Amino acid sequence: MKHDNILITGASSGLGRALAQTLARPGRTLWLGGRNTARLEETARSCVGRGAAIHLKTCDVTDHAAMADWVHGTNGLDMVLACAGITGGTRKPQGPDAPPTEPEAQIRRIFATDLTGVLNTVLPALELMQSQPRAADGMRGRICAISSVAGLVSFPGTPSYSAAKAAVDRFMVATGGNAKKAGILLSSVVCGFLDTPMVVGNTFRMPGLTQTPNACRRILRGLARNELSLIHISEPTRH
Ligand SMILES: NC(=O)c1ccc[n+]([C@@H]2O[C@H](COP(=O)([O-])OP(=O)(O)OC[C@H]3O[C@@H](n4cnc5c(N)ncnc54)[C@H](OP(=O)(O)O)[C@@H]3O)[C@@H](O)[C@H]2O)c1
Repeated sequence: MKHDNILITGASSGLGRALAQTLARPGRTLWLGGRNTARLEETARSCVGRGAAIHLKTCDVTDHAAMADWVHGTNGLDMVLACAGITGGTRKPQGPDAPPTEPEAQIRRIFATDLTGVLNTVLPALELMQSQPRAADGMRGRICAISSVAGLVSFPGTPSYSAAKAAVDRFMVATGGNAKKAGILLSSVVCGFLDTPMVVGNTFRMPGLTQTPNACRRILRGLARNELSLIHISEPTRH
């Protein structure tokens, strides 16, 4: 699998950072995006230490125009990993007869980041890759978005997160069927719980919690095998 030029959103933390570090090697150029410049630079330092060339972009995935400029400004990508994402739970009931609710601002922020932010990454990447020649393996490029098992089960603790991740998963898999004919792999990673900063505050049990390096290996193995649809990530549950 040719992947000399790779763009990763959410590279300043957790899974995106771990994927960048796993992929960093001499001869490879990584385009790394996130909002927090200091943490993005930390990721960059460790990737440079592994021999990769790095371009950093402090950028919000909700900014459609900035994302399109960034993606097209790379002048060619073999792989795109859309890792940026946020989550959020419901608010405690506000009265004895009130249901737990999700604040409207949070609902809008989660949809804007986890759904529109993915589209802002994937759509310009698709456009860019369509103009690229096919590599020796017949592929023009691979685009992978991180979905979640929360999107499979409509988890009531995180309604908008579940909904946004479900939409990402369906979009990637459904569009992927067509894109594959053009030599572009669209993959959705249906992730179980990962050991990242996103879950450090969780007080509930997290069945199948997976160490990030293991998740990276499984994701990259799935992409190398051109797994179009789902890559389920979770450690065997221990009782
Ligand atoms: N951890 C889990 O259990 C789990 C399970 C299933 C799926 N996932 C998914 O895996 C992906 C990676 O999450 P993680 O666990 O690695 O969480 P994380 O450690 O909190 O990292 C989230 C990353 O997303 C970036 N991000 C958030 N909002 C952004 C925005 N508006 N614009 C640009 N970047 C933004 C953050 O960048 P800044 O900090 O620089 O803003 C950070 O790099 C997410 O899509 C998440 O939903 C995680």
